[in-house]
Amino acid sequence: MLTTLIRNGTVVTSTDTRAADILIEGERIKEIGPSLPVDTAGKVIDATGMLLLPGGIDVHTHLDMPFGGTTSSDDFETGTKAAAFGGTTTLIDFAIQPKGTRMRDALDTWWKKAENRASIDYGLHMIVTDLGEAGLEDMDHLVSEGVASFKLFMAYPGVLMVDDSTIFQMLSRTAKNGALICLHAENGGIIDVIVKRAIAEGKTAPIYHALTRPVAAEAEAVHRAVAMSEISGAPVYIVHLSSEEALNEVREARDRGVPIFAETCPQYLLLSIEDLARPGFEGAKYVFTPPLRKKNNPPKLWEGLKHDHLQVVSTDHCPFCFEDQKILGKDDFTKIPNGGPGVENRLQLLYHHGVNAGQMSLNRFVELVSTTPARLFGLYPRKGELAPGSDADIVIWDPEAQYEISAKTHHMRVDYSMFEGFRVKGNARTVFSRGEKIVDQGSFLGRTGRGAFLKREARGGAWK
Ligand code: URP
Ligand code: ZN
Ligand code: ZN
Repeated sequence: MLTTLIRNGTVVTSTDTRAADILIEGERIKEIGPSLPVDTAGKVIDATGMLLLPGGIDVHTHLDMPFGGTTSSDDFETGTKAAAFGGTTTLIDFAIQPKGTRMRDALDTWWKKAENRASIDYGLHMIVTDLGEAGLEDMDHLVSEGVASFKLFMAYPGVLMVDDSTIFQMLSRTAKNGALICLHAENGGIIDVIVKRAIAEGKTAPIYHALTRPVAAEAEAVHRAVAMSEISGAPVYIVHLSSEEALNEVREARDRGVPIFAETCPQYLLLSIEDLARPGFEGAKYVFTPPLRKKNNPPKLWEGLKHDHLQVVSTDHCPFCFEDQKILGKDDFTKIPNGGPGVENRLQLLYHHGVNAGQMSLNRFVELVSTTPARLFGLYPRKGELAPGSDADIVIWDPEAQYEISAKTHHMRVDYSMFEGFRVKGNARTVFSRGEKIVDQGSFLGRTGRGAFLKREARGGAWK
């Protein structure tokens, strides 16, 4: 079997940092240790001065997703390629069950979107919009197919939102089938009223997207999620947590032993509501939900990452082009497709603003972008770890590489960057996915369609 020996690097896991070589055999890691013998028939890569990290796992992306009257601009081909350039080797994307249909049909639809296009491995969560007669049995079926998590919306009434009864029934079912319920926590009913008032008053600019979605509406929904978790005894994962107030709800619940987990995203750590007030229609580039918060908010989220009140950093990558998609809301912010791009930049931004800035250790960085996502979503130790037997998803990370983020050079299929002009130190130099070198020094060497669907295990880390 083909071997590759990565020599002289520093192996970084969530628990350990050590000088060691990694031997890849086929698709897996065979051995890790100092001064491993060179197999003259195999390949050898010198990683002197480099960090060797487990491939990034982004558990929150929306590729090829119909939303807001249009479709997210990256599909599984362009989105997974962009992810790979940034050192992410696994995505978990969302299939959507339209109202009145069966979850299985949605799964088939998303499998078709992904197969023959993805160049890295991927899993799917199921967004459920309508439980219907057979919904709870359908859930069990989906779990047996490896779709071991479900996203439910407490926001977007009339479109994606489900009521508390649905959430509670599904949560209770997870006690039997071991799935993980992910919640978009915002009180959609309240927000809808505030939004309608704003529009009636002629407040149509992008900034009103943020001003009509108060932090209390997020904190309230998180509080309700905590209560439902406590009553059902099942864990809950809060997606894209944006505010200090919501974080306080998570922290307090965790302190009481409630199995609540939460992710945040680079945009909430690095941007603020001022970005929505940029001149002209520029603010539309920053319209996503929950919205960006005040300038004093990001430091609280960094603290949350430090103290494990937040366990994961994902991207909520949901790109829409400015010129022909965001523009749909030129005269009415409610028509701006909600979402922003970021799948390529997650590791760069968290490494630079987290590790380089002294906000977190290297091991915590790995834990947030790879190991905990793998554990919580039923992929560990196949993914998220550097150990014999794990998939050889390995990033050779150059801690000295200087890089400027820009839409001119990124690989995401979108005409702007939320982080335009951000300079970072530290970047992926070489990326392996299941033993295959798919990115090297700015070149894509992978193959469209090589990415495999990941059947994820139920009763992942959130249940333990
Ligand atoms: O604005 C966002 N976040 N768009 C994607 C859908 C979602 O709520 O995650
Ligand atoms: Zn959401
Ligand atoms: Zn999302």
